Amino acid sequence: MQKIKDFQIIMAATLGIVLISTASHAAPKQIELPVEMAKLPESELPGYRLATQHCVICHSVDYIRYQPPGMSQAQWTAEVAKMKHAYGAAWLGEADIKSIGAYLAVVYGTAKATDRDVLTVSGEGQ
Ligand code: HEC
Repeated sequence: MQKIKDFQIIMAATLGIVLISTASHAAPKQIELPVEMAKLPESELPGYRLATQHCVICHSVDYIRYQPPGMSQAQWTAEVAKMKHAYGAAWLGEADIKSIGAYLAVVYGTAKATDRDVLTVSGEGQ
């Protein structure tokens, strides 16, 4: 009789352990997405506003800022044009591409906000 009691206790304990472990396995998985920390650097240039409107729709700012540091205005403008011609940002107008390219070259590249080439294209696309 005592043997049966012991067996019942062992079975109950085993069942309890099984229930507890399945319950913990069934708990919903938590996935934490990385917080979007990077922001485009603020600027008076009109390309700043355009970039905030057009450049973070498909990907994060990280894609933009992890480019080599020494890129010129021409290189940044080509990069923006690539978004239009190869990656699907077909709505971007030529004036906006130049204006965004100038802004990115100033904040991430080698251009200065006072450069004639920057000022020339920054009047457009407003
Ligand atoms: C229609 C979607 C779309 C928009 C809008 C867009 N991009 Fe992209 N961008 C992409 C895709 C797709 C990639 C490539 C992703 C990959 O390689 O995995 C990319 C990659 C990049 C890269 C990484 C380098 C490279 O050439 O692959 C940079 C820099 C970049 N984008 C800048 C910009 C800027 C600046 C703008 C705003 C003018 C912009 N993107 C807007 C789709 C877009």
